[in-house]
Amino acid sequence: MVTKRFLAAVLMVLPFLLSAQELTVNEARFCKGDDPVWSAFAYDDHAWLKVSFDQPWEELGLDQVNGLGWYRLHMVIPSSLKKGKVSAILLDLGAIDDSDETWVNGHSVGKTGTFPEDPGGYSSEWGKRRYYVVDPGWVRWDQENVIAVRVYNYGDPGGFYRGPIRIIKPSLKDFATLSLVAEAGGYKAVLATSVKTAGPLQITVEDVLTGARESSKTQKVNLAAWKEKQLSCPLAPQKRLKVTYADPRFEEVLEAEVCAPYILTPPAPATPRYNGPLVFGVRPGSPVIFRLAFSGDKPMEYAVEGLPEGVILDPEKGVLSGSCAVAGDYPLVFVARNAKGETRAEFTLKVGDQIALTPPMGWNSWNCWALSVSQEKVMASAAALINRGLADYGYAYMNIDDAWEADERTPDGRIQANEKFPDMKGLGDWLHANGLKFGIYSSPGDHTCGGYLGSLDHERLDAEVWNSWGVDYLKYDWCGYSKVFEAGRDKSEAAYIRPYLKMQQFLREQPRDIFYSLCQYGWGRVWEWGAFIDANSWRTSHDINDTWESLYVTGFERQPGLHPYAGPGHWNDPDMLIVGKVGWSSSLRDSRLTPDEQYTHISLWSLLAANMLIGCDIAQIDDFTFNLLCNNEVNAVNQDILGHQAHQDVVEDGMQIWSRDLYDGSYAVGIFNLNEASVPVRLDGALAKIGLGADSVRDLWRQKEIPAGAEYVIPPHGVLYVKVRPSGQADSR
Ligand code: GLA
Repeated sequence: MVTKRFLAAVLMVLPFLLSAQELTVNEARFCKGDDPVWSAFAYDDHAWLKVSFDQPWEELGLDQVNGLGWYRLHMVIPSSLKKGKVSAILLDLGAIDDSDETWVNGHSVGKTGTFPEDPGGYSSEWGKRRYYVVDPGWVRWDQENVIAVRVYNYGDPGGFYRGPIRIIKPSLKDFATLSLVAEAGGYKAVLATSVKTAGPLQITVEDVLTGARESSKTQKVNLAAWKEKQLSCPLAPQKRLKVTYADPRFEEVLEAEVCAPYILTPPAPATPRYNGPLVFGVRPGSPVIFRLAFSGDKPMEYAVEGLPEGVILDPEKGVLSGSCAVAGDYPLVFVARNAKGETRAEFTLKVGDQIALTPPMGWNSWNCWALSVSQEKVMASAAALINRGLADYGYAYMNIDDAWEADERTPDGRIQANEKFPDMKGLGDWLHANGLKFGIYSSPGDHTCGGYLGSLDHERLDAEVWNSWGVDYLKYDWCGYSKVFEAGRDKSEAAYIRPYLKMQQFLREQPRDIFYSLCQYGWGRVWEWGAFIDANSWRTSHDINDTWESLYVTGFERQPGLHPYAGPGHWNDPDMLIVGKVGWSSSLRDSRLTPDEQYTHISLWSLLAANMLIGCDIAQIDDFTFNLLCNNEVNAVNQDILGHQAHQDVVEDGMQIWSRDLYDGSYAVGIFNLNEASVPVRLDGALAKIGLGADSVRDLWRQKEIPAGAEYVIPPHGVLYVKVRPSGQADSR
């Protein structure tokens, strides 16, 4: 029991100390007995026994085993251990048998355990590590100091014997943590410390949108070592909670902040507004499947001017179908009308060899349902895509990931769906009738990542089956192909390409356009050859999940440098979105990303011209997630027809600036704060770093003009995402 406590104590404090600079002391003078004057700096102890800290006092040749004894340690404490003007030092005396009180130059700095004369009598704390903070005013900097330790021991062994003691240049963070832990109705501020500490704990609530301080209260904290202070902090939507703790002996302040989900984007107008891409590519003769993406009050009526022969409009649903035999660019005008008004939007239908002229937008079942996906669940999300209005923002692909496959093929080799998908063709037909597209998943190996049947040696037949169901998108996941790859001698780039090229030929033989999505985690430098084998996107990294670490690695570490490889028809795919209710199982949870991290995620994917495949259950989408996914200006950057993926321009002090140029001559710029604390940023200064000047810019999340000559506070892991029209350029808005 006691040993466990000791271990726990050691483990708890280790992380606090890793960064500290320190001085170790191996020797002291020792005397059995007890006299209060032994605590004084000036006491002359030269006749005391010299001891090192590796022997219990029983081994010092002393007859008496139980009782009191004193250690006096002499040392010069260099002022290099001072941090800033005011800084304490931290004594790490290790564990002492059994109880002690300690003085530095005559000032009592701490006591652990109790002595026989104390009320309640003696109690041992032999297993507890001693950390005592020493007031900087008590230290004789660059001169001799005396640490006096009065020890009471009972039973074997006694005193100091666990190695040198340490004098540490500490920071408050070395021995205390301040965190915010979610609880019902808000958060709990938790201050935990391994030393005695006192100071103000401040709790501030701000409005996220205005930045205005709404309340601020301060509590005086006085904590003994190894104690915790907990304080409930209710948090309403759109509010940011900041807590700070300052122990006046240290310069630095502990900080933590969180915010409740907050909606930056104003609601869409009731009048029709076009939010979809400006172009759509289809091959001659292939089915046109396209839903006009207008937000605004429903019902809405649609018309399209300039439709080529063979392409027809469902005027109630706003769905284009049919096909066009003749290649060419067809300028169309979409017209949408509701009770509040009429809106016209220019559009180009590009009938030619290239599809996926803008990154695909839609949904994929993996990040929510993983192997528990079913036709019912896909239908529920598809219906919600329409009913909740996400289809009015261009989301169109409904992609089934792994786990749709039956265990066996038919006797003639045809792949079939398992019992969870009773009617694939019916599902495809329903999606198409609503202007949505149908996606499926397979592997070039004999099995998929989830252990289902793959397409190895059945590629042509599988492509034909998918065509018969109306499949418009194939995610082709390497996984089981590793077996083939490892068995072969060829490990060249060609060996990576071979299985993908094979399937590509069979997809192209089908009389419909099938978006070809390569999934092999960025292996074999896929971005260098993906476009040449006519793939429409390729994964650039391993599987993402809903943590900051995963988002950071996937987004900020794996994507820099890939911008030259993206463009209309072929995109880098940093994996599916991790906002909303996800879970990779039949039980879902809210994304574990903070609201600020979610803004960062969607901003970065918008800049990266990434596949925008929603990974949550759309049927359960909340207003915050809707706002993240359905900001027409943020999505317009993702869908920009130049298709220029952003590049990472600046990496400095935990900040990153990414930018891309857009077809209207402006630039989308994301200023990301990857630090753990808020950072104020002077916007014109940040833009100057990437050679852009502007008096005012458009805040894409808030959808409003903001002055460039002002300072904006970017929250931890958050972003300021703007569109910049460089000075001198006329505003076409
Ligand atoms: C791999 C892919 C994921 C998902 C699973 C399915 O891990 O990278 O996106 O498709 O397989 O098993």
